[in-house]
Amino acid sequence: MTIISDNNLEIKSEKKRNANIKAEHIEYDKTFENSIRPKNFDDYIGQSELKETLKVILEAAKMRQEPLDHMLFYGPPGLGKTTIAGVIASQMGVDIKITSAPALERPRDIIGILMTLKGGEILFIDEIHRLNKVAEEILYPAMEDYTLDMTTGKSQTAKTLRVPLPKFTLIGATTKAGELSGPLRDRFGVIHRLQFYTTDELAQVITRTAKILNIKITQEGAIAIARRSRGTPRIANRLVKRVADFAIVKYNGIIDDDVANESLNILKIDEYGLDTTDRALLKLIMEKYNGGPVGIETLAAALSEDVRTLEDVCEPYLLQAGLLQRTPRGRKASPEAYRHFGEKVPPEQKSIFENQDI
Ligand code: ADE
Repeated sequence: MTIISDNNLEIKSEKKRNANIKAEHIEYDKTFENSIRPKNFDDYIGQSELKETLKVILEAAKMRQEPLDHMLFYGPPGLGKTTIAGVIASQMGVDIKITSAPALERPRDIIGILMTLKGGEILFIDEIHRLNKVAEEILYPAMEDYTLDMTTGKSQTAKTLRVPLPKFTLIGATTKAGELSGPLRDRFGVIHRLQFYTTDELAQVITRTAKILNIKITQEGAIAIARRSRGTPRIANRLVKRVADFAIVKYNGIIDDDVANESLNILKIDEYGLDTTDRALLKLIMEKYNGGPVGIETLAAALSEDVRTLEDVCEPYLLQAGLLQRTPRGRKASPEAYRHFGEKVPPEQKSIFENQDI
């Protein structure tokens, strides 16, 4: 008898414990996020183009006394996809039911939710690109004709039962619009990509959050945190809380420019807002793979990170900041990445224009 199984058990329970800790964090984050979430368009900062479009759509639906078109919001995590869905619901004066595709594993999960919806209500499905084929096929007639097609019995005795549903609105959110099937995508009347926030917009988000949480912050302090928040309000809101802890414990309780910058340096968030994982990713490409190209699986294995975390969380901002490049043969560190780390750009990584001394 070997003791491998005992070891396995230990690893499993350790993993389970970590999963529980993670779940608690997510729960905690969700409570925190909910407490500071804007409830109407006036309080919702940024995404101005989307806001203006939505105001018209909502007004028209109210005038026609019709439910809203189904909507799909996509873009990197933390840009406010759930938040905007909540704002839409409260502006329409309707309830919103929030779920995510991985929670809709069995047909009865999606059927159960659809059957409890009331007229005008909003069903929000996060990570909608992860919906399985069966759930997707249940959604097609539900979205198109507000009907639920249920099959009872087997093969020759099978019967399809058509159940009418109240007129509801589906709001889907995804970080990967490209992974949505064509037929599902075609059933959304509104499709919108959420944009990264400007420093000024993030400073406004930070000031608003600080006010709600009774955190003292100067305009300069808000801008300093905003600059390192990777264009993402979720990150800005987390950082303002972390910096507030430093301000209380180590300084005079007020977040100004110096307190913000010194605290963020201690937290290892650099001037670009890059954290330890982002920097490790870029350094790995630069130092071990001569600037790339290198495949994402190789990078994930070397960093002991999940491919999905790298693709969904790290990469969107690194790409947008021009530090990382995606090529058909893999990821490359850009000349800007070398400059960011104060290193010389290898000649083979310079663009043709730079090499020509124009
Ligand atoms: N908190 C998170 N996102 C926000 C936004 N867009 N406006 C105001 N507060 C927010």
